[in-house]
Amino acid sequence: MPRYTSDQYKAKQVGADGLIHYTSDEHDMWAELYQAQISLVNRHMVKEYIEGLAHIDLPSHRIPQCSEISKKLKKLNGWQVEPVPALIGYKRFFTMLANKHFPAASFIRNKDDFAYVKEPDIFHEIFGHTPLLTHPQVAQFSQVIGKLGSNMSAENHPWLARLYWFTIEFGLIKQTDTHNNNAVVPMGSGLASSPTELVYASSSAIPRRKLFDVIDLLTTPYRIDIKQPIYYVLESFDQLTDISQRDLFDDIKQAQCVGLQDPHHLLAQAC
Ligand SMILES: [Fe+2]
Repeated sequence: MPRYTSDQYKAKQVGADGLIHYTSDEHDMWAELYQAQISLVNRHMVKEYIEGLAHIDLPSHRIPQCSEISKKLKKLNGWQVEPVPALIGYKRFFTMLANKHFPAASFIRNKDDFAYVKEPDIFHEIFGHTPLLTHPQVAQFSQVIGKLGSNMSAENHPWLARLYWFTIEFGLIKQTDTHNNNAVVPMGSGLASSPTELVYASSSAIPRRKLFDVIDLLTTPYRIDIKQPIYYVLESFDQLTDISQRDLFDDIKQAQCVGLQDPHHLLAQAC
């Protein structure tokens, strides 16, 4: 999702052969991130993410091309992953989702941003997002958000973006484990792609974990530069379908009447 832009990273362009040519250092960064993250996601992420990861079957030692992932997704549910040349605005982001095109920033982070990168990079887009794009309710929810956003005026976009942020990017979800114990586990792409925040979201006592409440969520500001002080917990993947059937235009209007909550109550935890 559009978050932030700086001069630090430049988009990698698609060549005349239709491929993005990464350097060996860039492939090595993917391999290090994959190595760091694979056991963590297997331990902490919701099981539907892990099943999606097995389906997508990502390479461990090189950055995959978006076209490779698209082939698998298209066959499954018609989605594709499209490299985007630079940071894109909300309008283009939502329009692409409406058309089942997932926009993927093409650069990869450097070592200084190993644990978390404010600008979404290719590891976040592919490793973080695409496993759950195989899930019917996540795919449908993403498209509904896209359709809504592409039909909204620009001043409403940040309000809708908070719904995407607190679910698809940084959501938690209830899950019953194999021993029939109930647990709250990470499902968001920003968690799946962050070696430090995944463990923090999963087990730290510091962040607040709130049950999903649409107006509370829409009026909660978020930070892109720190570990999240607040996570919202979905009851199940079915709840994504319930949310997508709501009158979200009306919810946003109501949230605007309530107004944004004071951001100063958000705890500042350095990444
Ligand atoms: Fe993202």
